[in-house]
Amino acid sequence: MPRHAAVTGWGHYAPEKVLTNRDLEGMLDTSDEWIRTRTGICERRIAAHDETTSTMCAIAAQRALDKAHMAAIDLDLIICATTTPDTLMPATACLVQDSIGAANAGAFDLNTACTGFVYGLVMASQFIQSGAYDRVLVVGGETLSRFLNWQDRTTCILFGDGAGAVVLEATEDESGLLSFVLGSQGSGGPLLTIAGGGAAKPASPETVAAGDHYLYMRGNEIFKFAVRSMVQAAGEALTKAGLTQEDVRVVVPHQANVRILRATQEALGLPWESVFVNVDRYGNTSAASVGIALSECADLGMLRPGDNLLFIAFGGGLTWASAVMRWADVDAIVAAREESPNVI
Ligand SMILES: CC(C)(COP(=O)(O)OP(=O)(O)OC[C@H]1O[C@@H](n2cnc3c(N)ncnc32)[C@H](O)[C@@H]1OP(=O)(O)O)[C@@H](O)C(=O)NCCC(=O)NCCS
Repeated sequence: MPRHAAVTGWGHYAPEKVLTNRDLEGMLDTSDEWIRTRTGICERRIAAHDETTSTMCAIAAQRALDKAHMAAIDLDLIICATTTPDTLMPATACLVQDSIGAANAGAFDLNTACTGFVYGLVMASQFIQSGAYDRVLVVGGETLSRFLNWQDRTTCILFGDGAGAVVLEATEDESGLLSFVLGSQGSGGPLLTIAGGGAAKPASPETVAAGDHYLYMRGNEIFKFAVRSMVQAAGEALTKAGLTQEDVRVVVPHQANVRILRATQEALGLPWESVFVNVDRYGNTSAASVGIALSECADLGMLRPGDNLLFIAFGGGLTWASAVMRWADVDAIVAAREESPNVI
């Protein structure tokens, strides 16, 4: 019997504190008008002092488990996508594992910046399709607000904090990932980087004085790379899945900039209405963004069994990713599991 990896639970968490463009006008030489027209962002969420990537991920993860009617103890693996881990060691995935009580799960972090959630979906699906594991949690979370230079108007206006999670489980249902494309171009790494605090530049008074612990970005170059890489990857993923643009019901993209999304959608020849957008409310939440977007799509009832979803993302590394997923009959899979918990 072929094994597929279906999403059967989803959840997200966004911190309560809202930072609007108007708030930023009071902090920097910027304007609501500039930010809206250049990026489409109206507001973003900022983590409270006692919140971190792992605390936000744990809430999103628990929500995904609740939706799947699954106990944390039944998870085999936790993959946490993040660029802003609580600590360099231990991995944030282990903190989430402890927090939700997933005593039988392996756990590790994955860092491909803004493509992290799509990379995580692909990786989780491989573990399940190979027969190695039955139930995998993918969670993406970021506390980017702690790595931004709040005096640098070219970067700090773009990003926000939050977390998104999904539970994937083995099923014989014809659903889950149909195809994927993952790419990287390390030579572009310096275009988007947090250079300080690693082995190359350990934290020191000098690195702090130079602001090396802040996110640095060359926005114009990233913009062009983003459109080019997402258009190519999405085209390849659709071809691999044997589908065309007409077969796609919902596009779940990385939420960085509405102009990037428009340019990508136009180049791909997809209807704008099929592209899910929430960058206006959250800004760019990096590895969390696709997870939050997917969770919101599902909460809104936009995804029906048999629908084809197209994921597209780009990010630091540089990296890019695209995947085609067929949405499962979630209620049927959950009901079947509850009836006979040990089958599959
Ligand atoms: C960052 C970004 C919004 C900038 O938009 P842009 O149209 O390329 O703007 P530019 O960088 O050319 O800057 C235009 C002007 O606006 C100014 N500016 C930059 N940020 C500003 C802000 N927040 N408020 C007001 N003015 C600003 C610049 O200083 C520049 O002024 P100048 O012409 O006097 O030099 C855009 O390049 C972008 O979104 N890039 C992709 C970034 C991204 O997605 N990163 C995450 C990757 S996962």
